[in-house]
Amino acid sequence: MVAKINRRIVLKGTLAAAVGYLAGCSAGKNPPTSVSRPGFTPVSMAAVDGRSVVIADEYEYQILIPWGEPLASDEPAWSWPPTADAQTQQVGIGHDGMTFFPLSEDGRHGLLAINHEFGSNPHVLGTAIPTTHDQVLASQHAHGVSVIELRETNGIWAQVPGSRFSRRIHVNTEMVMSGPVAGHALVTNRANNPIQGTLNNCANGQTPWGTYLTCEENFNFYFGSDKPFDSTEAQQRYLLHAQGSFYGWHLFDPRFDLAHPDYANESNRFGWVVEIDPADPSATPVKRSALGRFKHEGAAVVEGPDGRIVVYMGDDQQFEFIYKFVSSGNWRDMRAAGISPLDEGTLYAARFDEEGTGEWLPLTVDNPALATAFTDEADILVHTRLAATLVGATPMDRPEWTTVAPAGDVYCTLTNNTRREQPDAANPLAPNPHGHIIRWRDSDSFLDTHFTWDHFLICDDVYETEDSLGSPDGLLATHDGKLLICTDGPQLEDKPNQLLVADTATGALARLLVGVNGCEITGLTTTPDWKTLFVNVQHPGNGNPEITSFPAPDDGKTVPRDCTLVVRRKDGGAIGS
Ligand code: FEO
Ligand code: CA
Ligand code: CA
Ligand code: CA
Repeated sequence: MVAKINRRIVLKGTLAAAVGYLAGCSAGKNPPTSVSRPGFTPVSMAAVDGRSVVIADEYEYQILIPWGEPLASDEPAWSWPPTADAQTQQVGIGHDGMTFFPLSEDGRHGLLAINHEFGSNPHVLGTAIPTTHDQVLASQHAHGVSVIELRETNGIWAQVPGSRFSRRIHVNTEMVMSGPVAGHALVTNRANNPIQGTLNNCANGQTPWGTYLTCEENFNFYFGSDKPFDSTEAQQRYLLHAQGSFYGWHLFDPRFDLAHPDYANESNRFGWVVEIDPADPSATPVKRSALGRFKHEGAAVVEGPDGRIVVYMGDDQQFEFIYKFVSSGNWRDMRAAGISPLDEGTLYAARFDEEGTGEWLPLTVDNPALATAFTDEADILVHTRLAATLVGATPMDRPEWTTVAPAGDVYCTLTNNTRREQPDAANPLAPNPHGHIIRWRDSDSFLDTHFTWDHFLICDDVYETEDSLGSPDGLLATHDGKLLICTDGPQLEDKPNQLLVADTATGALARLLVGVNGCEITGLTTTPDWKTLFVNVQHPGNGNPEITSFPAPDDGKTVPRDCTLVVRRKDGGAIGS
């Protein structure tokens, strides 16, 4: 009880500061006239049983691309558990961040690039520990990314048969690394093996030049060893240690064995943002090292007024940081000169100060705070977390998705932090079991190092109300002043995770959709007219058919499968309205 009272005192002070900021913030002062309360009947949690998805009466959904569906073909047909070979030609598991890239002007035909974040061994393989190399390969091939060509015909979305675009990218796909770390000793192994694969692909982004960004999050879970292994200070900061593997890949694949001398730097090759060209199936994915190495949640890209691009990113771990990258020049000029705007620029970490101001701190070799600790820019980028600590960035409550609203405000979900003991201005609850959403605005339209900030939502304030939500995660700012918010974590009365719509002008919340037992709701992308939303049901039932068989009819025995939902208003209106 005492803890609760103390938290409230801290919160009051922060809200007072936030109100001051809101008065000077365009989103609070001059809300666009199109902003309105969501015009649908919010789903009541009392009507939710967790066996199938529940959506607001004014909306409908269609199930699309479940885990294991063959790509652009009827073969290889789904069976469980999947084989390693079949899984390279089927939709992966762990549907997460995704982007719809339209191929037609009406937006009814396009490419969906979608992350396959993870699937537990029991869910994918039916066993906790793999006992064959083939099982390890099946798990590896279920991870990564799919590019899928989709078309809507008479209101039904489906894969385009025989698509030349549809493809899988997984843990064994050939990659390259670019930027300051490319070819560096820190990412070179004695085995001299090529850069290969992407994993734990969490949230995402897309560039103005039409490529997809997939973000590698909890890469430490895939590395381990059954031999003695002393991790370095840097490895410990990334939670890389001998007992760390949830997957046991190291039992059959030496790349993931932390103690194997031939692959000593393999773990430095993960934790990056990877760029994929969805329109060119022959293009090799590129790990863009200038964006830093951490547990990348997502990458929200926006163009500054002079054509430089800015990428906002969160590092999802307790007490880790929020980052931004600014390209060195106008992206069109850089690309015309054959330079990727994601290879040359400055990476910053955020310091949130009292009274709603903040500063972006450069992670560069000429920053005096970093001069003696690192040998070169590559050393800083491989060890981004250590550099951000040295410059004095603010440890946050697990930064998840970021999104940039049309008015220029940037929002970031801070999902929760049960270990916080000391509150600060930006993270005002200690502990913070239900999370919050922070909002900032950079001076000079994204380009300056100064910013102002406030709290958009403290979930604890609404947790015990009809608008209850906890552990906000997926986030998308709409064209008309709303926020779509997905949750991933404990909800009131153990109800499933959900999708809500928030009005950024009034803060009003409305529940649009509720998932099934055990699942996370995540991944948000729309058609260009904002009338069709794609959103994912990730790990339904955590793979346990006794609690749901979704998306199959609920029979208590069919293994549930991750899938995408196509969500629309029945009256054809915009998503969130
Ligand atoms: Fe993959 Fe932090 O969620
Ligand atoms: Ca997430
Ligand atoms: Ca999460
Ligand atoms: Ca998650």
